[in-house]
Amino acid sequence: MLRLALTLEARLRAAMERAFPEAANEAAAAGRPLDPQLAPASKPEFGDFQANGALPLARPLAQPPRRIAEAILAELHADPEFAELCLDPQIAGPGFINLTIRPERLISEVAARLADPRLGVPPAAATADGAAPPPVIVDFSSPNIAKEMHVGHLRSTIIGDSLARVLEFRGHPVLRLNHVGDWGTQFGMLITHLKQVAPEALEHPDAVDLGDLVAFYRQAKQRFDADEAFQAASREEVVRLQAGDPLSLQAWALLCDQSRREFQTIYDRLDIRLEERGESFYNPYLQAVVDDLRRAGLLVIDAGAGCVFLEGVSGKDGNPLPLIVQKSDGGFNYATTDLAAIRYRFAAAPEGDGARRVIYVTDAGQASHFAAVFQVARRAGWVPEGGRLEHVPFGLVQGDDGKKLKTRSGDTVRLRDLLDEAVERAEADLRRRLAEEGRSEDEAFISHVATTVGLAAVKYADLSTNRITNYQFSFDRMLALSGNTAPYLLYAVVRIAGIARKGGEPSTAGSLVFTEPQEWALVRELLRLDAVIMEVEEELLPNRLCSYLFELSQVFNRFYDQVPVLKAPEPARSSRLALCRLTADTLKLGLGLLGIPTLERM
Ligand code: ARG
Repeated sequence: MLRLALTLEARLRAAMERAFPEAANEAAAAGRPLDPQLAPASKPEFGDFQANGALPLARPLAQPPRRIAEAILAELHADPEFAELCLDPQIAGPGFINLTIRPERLISEVAARLADPRLGVPPAAATADGAAPPPVIVDFSSPNIAKEMHVGHLRSTIIGDSLARVLEFRGHPVLRLNHVGDWGTQFGMLITHLKQVAPEALEHPDAVDLGDLVAFYRQAKQRFDADEAFQAASREEVVRLQAGDPLSLQAWALLCDQSRREFQTIYDRLDIRLEERGESFYNPYLQAVVDDLRRAGLLVIDAGAGCVFLEGVSGKDGNPLPLIVQKSDGGFNYATTDLAAIRYRFAAAPEGDGARRVIYVTDAGQASHFAAVFQVARRAGWVPEGGRLEHVPFGLVQGDDGKKLKTRSGDTVRLRDLLDEAVERAEADLRRRLAEEGRSEDEAFISHVATTVGLAAVKYADLSTNRITNYQFSFDRMLALSGNTAPYLLYAVVRIAGIARKGGEPSTAGSLVFTEPQEWALVRELLRLDAVIMEVEEELLPNRLCSYLFELSQVFNRFYDQVPVLKAPEPARSSRLALCRLTADTLKLGLGLLGIPTLERM
């Protein structure tokens, strides 16, 4: 419907310009051409769209808005292109123009989509010079070595993957970057501990499995806190590591490698692709960050530390807050690394990634970090004209009790256990349902369906809430067969697959014919897909796509429950089967963009 809307907008603007040439010239001179203010109709009985653009003209033209709307209508009546697109427009209320797309235009849109694997979603516009479009970077997941990959990282992983999928589908080259926390002073203590408890690991890295690295981290931390000699050794170790001592580097690589394997099992299960580019990647560029900032006159030495004072951000005392980029001991920090990353990501290839849009998916707790880092990067001149830096924050994952998600014994929930439980519960639900329905299925089927549904439920529960708010993790809710859940949507796809098996291919010979309001409601809902995807691409809110898919399933179910399909006479039967197929294709595409594969039977 997006293309139709754009054409409609152009026709309306032209009509406004013909009706009010002086106002149009003035507006154009001010760089703000007249705006028809086209929006989706607030109610289906008002048609498809409404144009509110007459209202803001009332004051400058000193005319009642209804008169203005009438003048625009008179021009529209004289426009054959408009007449081909819309039925007779109506004025409502103080001067809104209600617009209804001609049914035959909707039908040709549906027909076009039935033959289009992109279902009407346009590919991102090519650049003017025909060069490959610049990459979009999505920085997501990004757990820390030897630390827990926790539910916060799971949210980042699921949301980031979905955003990357939407951007890729639109045709942007996407760099999916895992900004793993693989550098920092914690490695001093980890390596010191490693050298003492498993010295053989350094000789034969493959022979050693450090097992639970999180427990390993905890032991090291305990010793660090309790033992001064251990602390001193750890500090020396950091210095050795930073100086590139081979043995220290080897120990570091071993720890990274073991963590990486852990992380990878989660990514594999969730079918998530990521390119690891950890914090250590930026080590060679950290000094240049500070040098650039000094040259730009932004660097201030405060109490021995290199800082940039932030504009518009002040502390409790009213003084501007600093962003520290070099500690008084000369060391760099998380912010320095992120500045180096921005510098690298926007820099033209081959010295950098040449990106134009960089998206960071982390919990909302890091919002002020990113605001500060983005500001400094812009002031340093590392962000090109039109370059976009966006933080995509999300809220906390809470347990049923509204508190931070914990196991019953009070520990943090391990992701592996969480995914296992989702799949186990999906399997139990499935076995119960099969027994109720008296169906027997083989174990391969049960395991495939349970895995798909369980993992889909976890992903969808995360994606379907507005990501800014905290979200309550509940297996019961996410696995329910009704409501805005993955099982509900997967079931809709299965239902349509069943219809298709019985109905066969719709005959494409005849043209589509729709007569029932439920059919038109479904047609209109199907045609919203392109606008929804473009909106997600802009606003980075996957929950909009989820709401759309949920609404589509509901409209479909209403249609299928109230209008005969398989028993309908031709040409209604084929037309309705075609709507079924397009609904299934739309759901599959949409779920695919959320990282959720669908099933033929469940
Ligand atoms: N490792 C960080 C954490 O666990 C997230 C990193 C996000 N990305 C970035 N460029 N800072 O909180």
